Amino acid sequence: MDKQIQEAAAVINNGGLVAFPTETVYGLGANALNPIAVAKIFEAKERPSFDPLIVHIASFDDLNVLSDNVPQSVFMLAQKFWPGPLTIVLPKSKMVPDIVTSGLETVGIRMPNNEVALQLIRAAKCPIAAPSANKFGQLSPVSAKHVRKQLPNIDYILDGGFTTVGIESTIVAVEGNVCQLLRPGFITLEDIEKALPGVFEFDYSTPQKLVSPGLLKSHYSPKKPLYILTGAEEQLPEHSGLILHSNEAATLEASCVMYTSQTGSLVEVAANLFSSLHAMEENDSVTQIFIKPVEIKGLGVAIMDRMRKAAYQYQPNVDKE
Ligand code: TXA
Ligand code: MG
Repeated sequence: MDKQIQEAAAVINNGGLVAFPTETVYGLGANALNPIAVAKIFEAKERPSFDPLIVHIASFDDLNVLSDNVPQSVFMLAQKFWPGPLTIVLPKSKMVPDIVTSGLETVGIRMPNNEVALQLIRAAKCPIAAPSANKFGQLSPVSAKHVRKQLPNIDYILDGGFTTVGIESTIVAVEGNVCQLLRPGFITLEDIEKALPGVFEFDYSTPQKLVSPGLLKSHYSPKKPLYILTGAEEQLPEHSGLILHSNEAATLEASCVMYTSQTGSLVEVAANLFSSLHAMEENDSVTQIFIKPVEIKGLGVAIMDRMRKAAYQYQPNVDKE
C-alpha cells in the first residue's frame, strides 16, 4: 500500500483527484488549499456549488491552520472523538479557499479513523477536501468498486476494502458553548454529552438555513425505486428485492433477500446499509427494493435518516427537491 499512497499523494500534489477509504464512506479528495483542484471535485460529482466540502486532517495542529481561535471545548471534543466519524463546523481561517466552503464563513473539519486516509494526508502534506465519492444524490460508496461504478474516470482510487462504519460522519456546528447537530451519524449528541459532561449545551433544532445538504429531503438514492416497509404489506410485486436486518424468516416473498445483520445489531445495519442498496441496484432480477425500517433511537436515528432520504423521491404525493 506504501507505493500506492505515494502515487496518490503525488496526484493530490499535482492538483488531481484521489478517491480514498475512510472509516465511514469513500471520499473524493483534492488538496483543500488548491481552489482549482477543489473545483474538479464539484465537476466530477456534478455537485451543486452551494454544497460545501469537509476538510480532512491528520494532525490536531491543522485545526489551528483551518480555523482561528479554536476554543478549548472544541479541542476537547476533537481529542475525544478523533480520529473518528465526527465533523466539526467552525469559523474558517483565511487559508481555506471559498470554493471549499461554498462561500460560507465556516468550514467542516474531521480526522478520519482510517490508516490509508491518514497516511495519504500525511504523505500529501496538505489537508484534503473530500465529499463522499459518489455522483450527487446517489448512493454513497463503501468500497472501491462502488466508486468505480459512479466515477470511472477519476485520477486515482486507493482501494482499502470495505469501510467499517458505513454511513457518513456526524456533523456538529459549535458556536460558543452550543453544539448543534447538522447531520446525524454514528456518534450521537448523547455520546458527546456522556464523554464531555457539562461542556456543551445541545441544540437539537433543525438549522433554519440549508447549511447542510445532508438536510435535503432526497439524497443517497439508489437508481431503482426504494420503499420502506410499513408492515401492512401482504405481498410484494414481482421482481422485488427485500432488505432485512435480522435472520428472521422473510414472511414476504421476494426475488432477492439480503440481510444487513443476522442479529439486528445497528452497528452492522449501518455498516451494510449502503452496500446492500448497491447490491440491489446491481441485481438484474430486481426492479424495486423494499427495506425494513429500524427503531429511531441511538444509531437508528442516522440509519433512518439515510433510509428515508434514499426512499424520499419514490414516495407518492411528495414535493420533489
Ligand atoms: O463521513 C463523511 O463525512 C464523508 C467522508 C468522505 O469523510 N464525507 C461526506 O461528505 O459525507 P459529503 O460532502 O458527502 O457531505 C458533507 C456534508 C454536506 O452535507 C455539507 O453540506 C456539509 O457536510 N458541510 C460541509 N461543510 C459545511 C459547513 N461549513 N457548514 C455546514 N455544513 C457543511
Ligand atoms: Mg455525500
